[in-house]
Amino acid sequence: MSFIKKAKTKAAVKYNALMVVGIRVFLAKRLSAQTLNRVDLTGKRAIVTGSNTGLGKATVQYLAEMGAEVYIVCRNLGKGEAARQDILKTIPHASLHLIQLDTSTLENCRKFCEDWAANGGKTIDMLFHNAGIGCPPSPDNLFSPDGFEHMYMTNFLSNVVLTHGLERFFAPDAKVIMTSSPGVYVANFSPDFAKQSTKNTMEPGFNYIKDAHPKPANSVVYSSTKLMQLCFARNLMRKWKAEGKGYIAHAYNPGYAASDFFEKEGVKTSKRKDDLIWWMLTWLKAPMPASEGCKTGVMLAIDNSKKVTDKAGFLWDRMKWRTSTIDLYDDKMLDRMWDRWCNDTGIEWSIVPQDSTTASKASVDEPAVIISEKN
Ligand SMILES: NC(=O)c1ccc[n+]([C@@H]2O[C@H](COP(=O)([O-])OP(=O)(O)OC[C@H]3O[C@@H](n4cnc5c(N)ncnc54)[C@H](OP(=O)(O)O)[C@@H]3O)[C@@H](O)[C@H]2O)c1
Repeated sequence: MSFIKKAKTKAAVKYNALMVVGIRVFLAKRLSAQTLNRVDLTGKRAIVTGSNTGLGKATVQYLAEMGAEVYIVCRNLGKGEAARQDILKTIPHASLHLIQLDTSTLENCRKFCEDWAANGGKTIDMLFHNAGIGCPPSPDNLFSPDGFEHMYMTNFLSNVVLTHGLERFFAPDAKVIMTSSPGVYVANFSPDFAKQSTKNTMEPGFNYIKDAHPKPANSVVYSSTKLMQLCFARNLMRKWKAEGKGYIAHAYNPGYAASDFFEKEGVKTSKRKDDLIWWMLTWLKAPMPASEGCKTGVMLAIDNSKKVTDKAGFLWDRMKWRTSTIDLYDDKMLDRMWDRWCNDTGIEWSIVPQDSTTASKASVDEPAVIISEKN
């Protein structure tokens, strides 16, 4: 099994997909509890987006329990305050703050970073990119105010803007944790992905161009945004290692966990013929508790051991790193994705050290190595 896990082949990836999607999702409720070792986080500061409920709230609970000062970041302050009060009932001495952020626009994310600076620019030890949706806010409104497909913006581009904008406040060993998904095992990008920035289209990688193709299932688009988070973690690690920085970026799969995610209109009401995955998960009704699903993410944020940090930028799942499709991508493909995200967000952020003379950057016109269903 460990041979297959470490083999860099498509068979390994498919094996993992079968294990995770086929078995762990179906048996989520019956999986044994994972062991999360507690550490003293006194003096540490964490930001968790989308943490008024679900996995984010459970993450805040663990961090607060271990003594961290935690910023509950959410789009609805009323819901955020309710979550804060709820956590304070069990952890009365918790140091919990509330900040409003709707991650569905570039401007909101940029402003969050500016406000953080204006409010003293406190050091950040842990940044959790957790806010996410499995469908657009309404079926008639596929695009964010910036013109990006909603899930791409809310689930992913926000991660890029926030990480870039907050990096200057990172502690030397800061952790950036992205809540990815079992969807990464089945997600693919089309060969056109990363070639260009096309506002008011869904990504070419999502196989949909406005008014030209039928819209793919929400779960398919969603899974691509989650695979992108993993690619982002991998790219951040390439960048930070080259720059000699000690920051760590991880993406983890929480599995199938109980939360409001499955209560949102476009997920809950999915029909089998339109969106098999969302239909199946809402029909199954057998998720594990959110407090179980978030454990791997919390572990990654607090475990500084080499066995964990050495595998930063790999997919983590039930406390272990696992092979995924991005292990089959070459650096040029990852460079092209980075360029794409920078173009989309308007950020100037080099993946290679600014003064590097040896590292070469892939041209956006060069063909990329793509792993798709056809190869
Ligand atoms: N549950 C699972 O089985 C599962 C599996 C894989 C990955 N995930 C991922 O885990 C993360 C947490 O999801 P969850 O399952 O805990 O679902 P959830 O209970 O619905 O939590 C999602 C959080 O994101 C927030 N959010 C959504 N859109 C936002 C926006 N535009 N701006 C700011 N916050 C926004 C939600 O706020 P509101 O309460 O205001 O809507 C909520 O706080 C998501 O990224 C999801 O993709 C979940």
